[in-house]
Amino acid sequence: MLPGDGGAELPPIAALRRDFIWGVSTSAFQIEGATREDGRGLSVWDTYGLKGQIANKDTGDIACDHYHRYPEDIALMQRLGIQAYRFSVAWPRILPQGRGTPNELGLAFYDRLIDAILAAGIEPWLCLYHWDMPQALDDLGGWTTRDCAGWFADYAALVADRYGDRVKRFATFNEPSIFTLFGQATGGGERDRTGVDTLHRAIHHVNLAHGAAVDAVRARVLGSLIGAIHNYQPCLPSTPADAQAARVCDTYWNRAFPDPQCRGEYPELMQAAMAPHMQAGDLARIHRPIDWFGLNHYGPSYVKAEAGARLGWGFGEKPVGIPLTPIGWLIEPDAFRDTLLTVAKGYKLPVYVLENGFGGFDKPDAAGAVIDNDRIAFLRAYIGALNEAASAGANIRGYFVWSLLDNFEWDSGYGVRFGLIYVDYPTQKRIPKSSSHWYRDLIKAARGQSES
Ligand code: FCB
Repeated sequence: MLPGDGGAELPPIAALRRDFIWGVSTSAFQIEGATREDGRGLSVWDTYGLKGQIANKDTGDIACDHYHRYPEDIALMQRLGIQAYRFSVAWPRILPQGRGTPNELGLAFYDRLIDAILAAGIEPWLCLYHWDMPQALDDLGGWTTRDCAGWFADYAALVADRYGDRVKRFATFNEPSIFTLFGQATGGGERDRTGVDTLHRAIHHVNLAHGAAVDAVRARVLGSLIGAIHNYQPCLPSTPADAQAARVCDTYWNRAFPDPQCRGEYPELMQAAMAPHMQAGDLARIHRPIDWFGLNHYGPSYVKAEAGARLGWGFGEKPVGIPLTPIGWLIEPDAFRDTLLTVAKGYKLPVYVLENGFGGFDKPDAAGAVIDNDRIAFLRAYIGALNEAASAGANIRGYFVWSLLDNFEWDSGYGVRFGLIYVDYPTQKRIPKSSSHWYRDLIKAARGQSES
């Protein structure tokens, strides 16, 4: 597959289950905007924005204005024909201080959102934490304090009590390895200035929070189906001398959360470092029964040994000759197939791909159309790889594109676009890209196949 060779052709999907779920994913901070509205508290990502730490000094203040435009966005989802929509709740919108008195106006927003999603015939998949830690809790140490697990469980209970009559699919965390490794969980509101010890503490407390939230949701929501969402990908050595660095990366990036959550143990390589932060019974608290494994996957990482780096590894040279997305991420559908087989067999849970997508610098053409054949080619190759993994025995139940809309791409701000739908930020006009038509056709064909 070469980037740019897009077109209408659909990938093979014959090995997918009849009840396979097609969806799209977003997250609160990346789309909602309205950060100072209706009593919302600040999150750590508002603080990064205020400090001008994001590309172009972007902030999440307006983002896609989804807080006000959600009916239009749900209508766009309905046109895509998706069966499920994964979104996240902003913890500081419903608990401005992270704990204590809930904000009724914030809670009411998600009531309206969930009701509109259901009215469109789409199943809501609710993720509790997509990185927007309430600033008030971060000020108290955030994930570096053990109390944070309890604060998170109380927040999960509030969400479950309020929405559990309508929402059955719950995810505890999105990509815990990413927000712990890259400094957003290690306290004090500072990023990338943390010691290894802080990292291990944060990892453990996020795992405890996961277990406590699973119990809180399970006890409250009849018929709940609960999981967590992990970023998992081959971590490969750039040179043979980097093999140990790649193993360390694999341990922290891929396994630090799924291993204790699904198997009840930390990977061997990190056990000694975790020991000082653990209390008797903790692994049982983390290893609670869950219903599915959420996989986010984009491409493999190449890793090199880096003396002086926090864990002794850094990103290394990528091999030449492998195609890249415009933002420089490797396009390797075979790595996706292999990862699906690894996680399906390794964790023995039904797998839902909850993020996969293509980041670029899309622009409307002179006629105002956004032609993104390179994104189509990417999706076609990756969904083809997913079909291969299914035919090789991986228990895969669904696939969600990241993302519905172009949105706030964290440190890159609005410069990088992952959407099936283009957002013209100054006017907030939505323009469905060619890939959205292609995805609609694929879902139609897939659903036709499963009905026949
Ligand atoms: C993932 C994040 C998601 C988005 C995509 C591109 O790591 O979960 O919010 O930024 O990458």
